[in-house]
Amino acid sequence: MSRIAYVDGRYLPFREAKVHVEDRGYQFADSVYEVCEVRGGRLIDKRRHMARLARSLAELRIPMPMSPRALGVILRELVARNRIGYGIVYLQISRGVARRDPAFPVPQTSPTVVATARPLNMARNEALAEKGISVVSVADNRWGRVDIKTVGLLPNVLARQTAIDQGARDAWFVDNDGNVTEAASANAWIVTRADTLVTRHADHAILRGITRGVTLDVLKAHGLTVEERGFTLAEAYAAREAFETSATQIVMPVVNIDGHTIGDGKPGPVARALRRDFHRHAEAG
Ligand code: PDD
Repeated sequence: MSRIAYVDGRYLPFREAKVHVEDRGYQFADSVYEVCEVRGGRLIDKRRHMARLARSLAELRIPMPMSPRALGVILRELVARNRIGYGIVYLQISRGVARRDPAFPVPQTSPTVVATARPLNMARNEALAEKGISVVSVADNRWGRVDIKTVGLLPNVLARQTAIDQGARDAWFVDNDGNVTEAASANAWIVTRADTLVTRHADHAILRGITRGVTLDVLKAHGLTVEERGFTLAEAYAAREAFETSATQIVMPVVNIDGHTIGDGKPGPVARALRRDFHRHAEAG
């Protein structure tokens, strides 16, 4: 079955799905995106992803090309046309096509809307989560507004490749104060020896992950102690557990950081429980 993408009003086979060479997303990374999990053929936490998308667009003064409801219809149609049971949808909105000039184009320029969907391998993801992953730390050299989900991801690309080159799976960014901000495409968490869950407070230095938000709700509902603050690598090395959260991985245990074994080197009970219970708390639309 050929994959179908959505490009500016049309559902097209992948080989015909193209954007203009002067699209500002392509030339300036002047573009925002969302990735949403699909499970049982349903979009997980679509409402929150749409709200974050609207915020990213507003921060960059890109007009919302259509209502969140209409975007939702497109995403659901893509899931159906690609027959996705378990997988992801990707939605990208750029400022549109215009002669190359950093200044904003004329206000009549329509944003470019692109969406794709693809299946994920549930058995493979579960097997990975059973074992846990290794991460390495890298300097956080990103711009000061990574709370906006833009496609300007070059530092994330290089960080992830650094991890792979070192035999690890992911990279955790560390800021100038020595605190972990987040992972290359996920939020970072630890469970301290005192059983406190710690994840970086959400300001302009991390993406306010949707999975992070649902996880916080779950933890608070269970009365667990959570601190939203920066934590150092030393704290992470000494942690009882570590894990990361994102729409593609949900809760992924981290068992090794920079060669230091975390806890007993196996996924810990908190991360496992959060992973197991996550979809009871997420919204399936
Ligand atoms: N990334 N931090 C960064 C830098 C991210 O890119 C992501 C998500 C997250 C987690 O956000 P959420 O829980 O809303 O998925 C945190 C997506 C999955 C991606 O780029 O593929």
